[in-house]
Amino acid sequence: MCGIIGYIGHEPNPEIVDILIDGLQRLEYRGYDSAGVAVMTEAGLELQREVGKLSNLVKKLASIELIGRAGIGHTRWATHGRPTEYNAHPHTDPDKQLVVVHNGIIENYLDLKEELAALGHQFASETDTEVIAHLISHYYQGDLKEAVQKTLLRLEGAYSICVMHVKEPNYLVAAKTSSPLLLGKGDGVNFIASDIPAILRHTRDIIYLEDGDMAVVYPDKLELFRIDGTPLERPVQHIDWNLVAAEKMGYDHFMLKEIHEQPAAFSQTLGGRISEGHQRLYLDEINLTPEQLKGLNRIYIVACGTAYYAGMVGKYLIEKFARIPVEVDVASEFRYRNPILDGQTLVIAISQSGETADTLTAMKLAKQQGALTMGVINVKGSAITRVTDGTLYIHAGPEISVASTKAFIAMLAAVNLLALHFAQVREQISLPELTAAMHELRRLPRLMEETLHAVEAPVNALSTVLLRYHHCLYLGRGINFPIALEGALKLKEISYIHAEGYAAGEMKHGPIALIDALMPVIAVVTEGDAYDKVISNLKEVRARDGLVIAVATVGDERIKDVANEVIYVPAVPEWLSPVINVIPLQLLAYYVALRRGYDVDQPRNLAKSVTVE
Ligand code: AGP
Repeated sequence: MCGIIGYIGHEPNPEIVDILIDGLQRLEYRGYDSAGVAVMTEAGLELQREVGKLSNLVKKLASIELIGRAGIGHTRWATHGRPTEYNAHPHTDPDKQLVVVHNGIIENYLDLKEELAALGHQFASETDTEVIAHLISHYYQGDLKEAVQKTLLRLEGAYSICVMHVKEPNYLVAAKTSSPLLLGKGDGVNFIASDIPAILRHTRDIIYLEDGDMAVVYPDKLELFRIDGTPLERPVQHIDWNLVAAEKMGYDHFMLKEIHEQPAAFSQTLGGRISEGHQRLYLDEINLTPEQLKGLNRIYIVACGTAYYAGMVGKYLIEKFARIPVEVDVASEFRYRNPILDGQTLVIAISQSGETADTLTAMKLAKQQGALTMGVINVKGSAITRVTDGTLYIHAGPEISVASTKAFIAMLAAVNLLALHFAQVREQISLPELTAAMHELRRLPRLMEETLHAVEAPVNALSTVLLRYHHCLYLGRGINFPIALEGALKLKEISYIHAEGYAAGEMKHGPIALIDALMPVIAVVTEGDAYDKVISNLKEVRARDGLVIAVATVGDERIKDVANEVIYVPAVPEWLSPVINVIPLQLLAYYVALRRGYDVDQPRNLAKSVTVE
């Protein structure tokens, strides 16, 4: 995700940079790899950008006076192209006549870039956004709105953009598909922003753009259209939030907001990595040749906490599809157990922050021992990405809540892509099987939305049941065993209720001694190979007065014989079920912690990134 802001007024405004910077500061939680502003001054378009946090741009601007009647700004969460000054937005066309800021992923940008390069266009960045700027200039013949319209009709993927042209300084053009964008109606001034916090100081009258909308924004007029040119009206909403609430987009906590952002995080991580025909995967960024992949005889996945559980899911998937032996280690163990590594071993680090000390050190060890290395990382340019040979970035956007949710889901998207990619390169999967699998992946974001809408209310109600307990046991089997572990971690880290995850088949080897009326069991028992086995485990729990809460597949009637409470989720192939099954468990932890009155986003004793051992 990135943050966008646009401003336009009648007169040159000496405070325009303050307005843009203040807006970007309130959007910085959406991305903080680099930032930039462009101002329409009397002398023309002035562009200033800086890599790193917004404060670096502020320092740069302190000695520069920019006065203008229109301006746009951007704070970046890097997707295509490393966090550098030349990749920072705004981006310009070859003649520096127009500037564009963009949030989203253009899936066909490489095709468009080749088409433009063949026409002589030269590019200064690695971004998909610069391609948009060049395409608009390619279509520009004196009417910016028309040039933007023609460009939008060529784009595939997610975007919210704001465009400014030196030859048409009286208006800005905005457009939105998939990534959020709204307009702010001021008094003789108007605004464009990624979301409310950026402009709430100036206006509370907001117009949300919908997918396929575009807008021409004048200082005292807003013209809205569909991309095909059809004029339209959108209602003006009056926002009465306070600013802090606004940054949570109306949610009470970042955790709940991020749980609801999971379909987008999953979809954005798939992004442009699956070809339109679902025939092949584009994972060049992992920097592993087909020969290296074919020569692998073992994979280690090293991570901590939630990321470790994503790695456990990855093990099931890579062994299922690519038939490569996978070991999953917590990084703090891996680095001290003198692992056996060589040039036919791939070590994969999974980390949201890319700064976790144990994982970073583990990767340095892997490099020293001559293993191939890669990362599955959320934060661009973070420490681990500077150690590994390649990185498959997850596009979850900044995750603010200490309890990781959308990053976990994006990690699951990444390990699915890796498993299918390794299988294809090692000829372990037929093209029809691959195509079918990728089609299933593409369906998941919609099924995740369906799950969120179906389970949130019943899970919220159910959370009152768990309030009275001090211990919980989470059970799962197979690919859902890691989900039981993750569900337990979520509950314990934000509600402080002791919770353990266990492989359901292990009950008879000890844990069943714990079962009585004071030990509830939360079981993941959706359709799958071991369904009957888990049902048997739950019968043993009920026989000892244990309360059973089950996550089960919609339509399952048998589960009612063994569960006191059932949370139904949509049916998906078992190998994809972790992506769906984790959602009720995240929500359960959230609502229990909420009812216990704890600080959900900043639980005691924890930090978002554990950069010390
Ligand atoms: C997850 O909810 C926790 N906050 C924690 O376990 C986290 O997953 C772990 O510290 C790893 O962090 P990383 O993904 O940034 O490496």
